[in-house]
Amino acid sequence: AQASVALHTGRTIGEISPLIFGGFAEHMGRCIYEGIYDPESPLSDERGLRTDVMAALRETNYRIMRYPGGNFVSGYRWTDGIGPKADRPRRRALAWRSIETNQFGPHEFMDFARELGTEPMWAVNLGTGSIQEAADLVEYMNLPTGTLYSDLRAANGQQEPYGVKYWCLGNEMDGPWQIGQMDAATYAEKAVQASKLMRWMDPSIKTIACGSSATSMPGYPDWDLTVLNHAYDQIDYFSMHHYAANPYPTVSNTERLPLDTDSYLASSIHFAEHADTLAAAIRVAKAKNRSKRDVHLCWDEWNVWYRAKGGDGDWSEAPHILEEEYNLEDALVVATWLNTFLNKADVVKIACIAQIVNVIAPLMTRRDAMFRQTIFYPLTLFSNHAAGHALAALVRAPIHDTKRYGGVSQLDVSASFDEATGRGATFLVNRSQTEPLQVTVTWENGAPQAVTHAWQMSGPDPLAGNSFEAPDAVTAQAIAAPVLDGAHATLLLPPLSFTTLLS
Ligand code: AHR
Repeated sequence: AQASVALHTGRTIGEISPLIFGGFAEHMGRCIYEGIYDPESPLSDERGLRTDVMAALRETNYRIMRYPGGNFVSGYRWTDGIGPKADRPRRRALAWRSIETNQFGPHEFMDFARELGTEPMWAVNLGTGSIQEAADLVEYMNLPTGTLYSDLRAANGQQEPYGVKYWCLGNEMDGPWQIGQMDAATYAEKAVQASKLMRWMDPSIKTIACGSSATSMPGYPDWDLTVLNHAYDQIDYFSMHHYAANPYPTVSNTERLPLDTDSYLASSIHFAEHADTLAAAIRVAKAKNRSKRDVHLCWDEWNVWYRAKGGDGDWSEAPHILEEEYNLEDALVVATWLNTFLNKADVVKIACIAQIVNVIAPLMTRRDAMFRQTIFYPLTLFSNHAAGHALAALVRAPIHDTKRYGGVSQLDVSASFDEATGRGATFLVNRSQTEPLQVTVTWENGAPQAVTHAWQMSGPDPLAGNSFEAPDAVTAQAIAAPVLDGAHATLLLPPLSFTTLLS
């Protein structure tokens, strides 16, 4: 079959915020402990940071990092994580039935973020935590010395304020699993008061309110409308979470329905609808509030997650929970998700893959080794090459049938063009499990000098993945870049493939 993609550098969707290439590091499972931080590993430096993990995180080029939760944060006392390590308390972390040693805390996280060159995005505890504790944390992290908490920071070794700019007002506060769950109106008011106090401490910060924790929540999208209407002028971003699954929605941890890969590979229909609904809710709230300000979407938890659902840490340290193993079809879904971020670049301004190491993550570690999961590759290609403005691609491609979404384009596309460098990137996913696609890309307002690089991920088995034994079984391979014929480039997309072109 044949397809065409037409690009015009003047037909833009919006500016691509670099912060859509973000990550999320929660104190849960083996994300922090045994993932980022492992003093016992021969691969760690003198601070306990895993050097192999740091190198791979640098490859992905994460621009923002959400921390310290997730569900964990709703029971977290940030004062536990400061001061001499020997004096820090061991606590029961109720969210994941785990033991938290507090050996990694605010200072260790800031060292990690600085070393990575990533912007920190801090979540405050609005479950058991008070608005005063949230404001105190802003004082501790951001204010010059001279008062109690800023002086305490200096006494703990950091004289200069850290200047954390992005602050999440709690996490998934609509979920019955959340420590301190509340109804929408109660949350909205607590978020307003927390944001107000935090901004009185430091007016330069940006705050992010919780949206529904999933589109499957009974309160969606009423929760979102209530929070947005009430809090609009006190927030800068509105958070959305979603985890994709094959099939979707999952029924339970143990019960498995038969796989429906065609529908799964069309999940971006759902992602786009989710973003459109919340963008519309934002517009309504803006009008209701007679506001002149814009609020943007912060998709601060997104990934594939349906196999390793059990979150019971059995009261141990660094339990092996949520260690999802990814395959080729998951990588293709992740690529279409990143396409969605570009195609919604006007409204989605922050996004954080959940999470970065071991816990539903692109990297897996054991004490003496690490490997990159399949989803590492699309994430890293987009993060390093999508820049400037997202282009509205005109796509003609065969439509194929899916059980969940009906007729869906066989080809999923996004593209970017960076005026500053003159570089463009085109991202193409062939969703068919059986049909190759010959695609012609046309640059309508002038051909680039060349397609300089091309990478492709594909394979016959959608369920194939990587492991410690076969770390490179499914990767993105450099392929011969298609030669331009005037303003056209034609190339063959194998079934089940993700292709990146740089021009
Ligand atoms: O990322 C794993 C968990 O998923 C987070 O802690 C929570 O916010 C969500 O339910």
